[in-house]
Amino acid sequence: MKRMRLLLPALAAAVTFLAANALATVEMSKKEKKPCTTCHEKGKPTKENPLLNEIGKYYKQKGTLEGAPKK
Ligand code: HEC
Repeated sequence: MKRMRLLLPALAAAVTFLAANALATVEMSKKEKKPCTTCHEKGKPTKENPLLNEIGKYYKQKGTLEGAPKK
């Protein structure tokens, strides 16, 4: 029983983290009010290959579009 008490909060944290992660990129787009193609090459971005362009890479590094390379 002692174990369960440790496991549940850990699980809850993990689920929250995953959900936040999945939303992250749509949030990015909303926050920056930019179309997906600002940061992504044409095509379908996936977790394995997000197809980031120069601006996308910059954004990933810095977490902002300020000072990002122009298109
Ligand atoms: C402001 C820049 C920016 C915009 C706009 C943006 N993305 Fe992303 N996106 C990123 C970055 C940076 C990553 C890589 C995240 C990482 O590797 O941690 C990413 C990753 C992704 C992924 C890979 C899955 C993941 O969560 O890692 C998908 C799918 C994706 N984006 C879809 C979209 C779609 C669809 C839109 C338009 C609604 C969009 N993105 C708009 C920057 C952006």
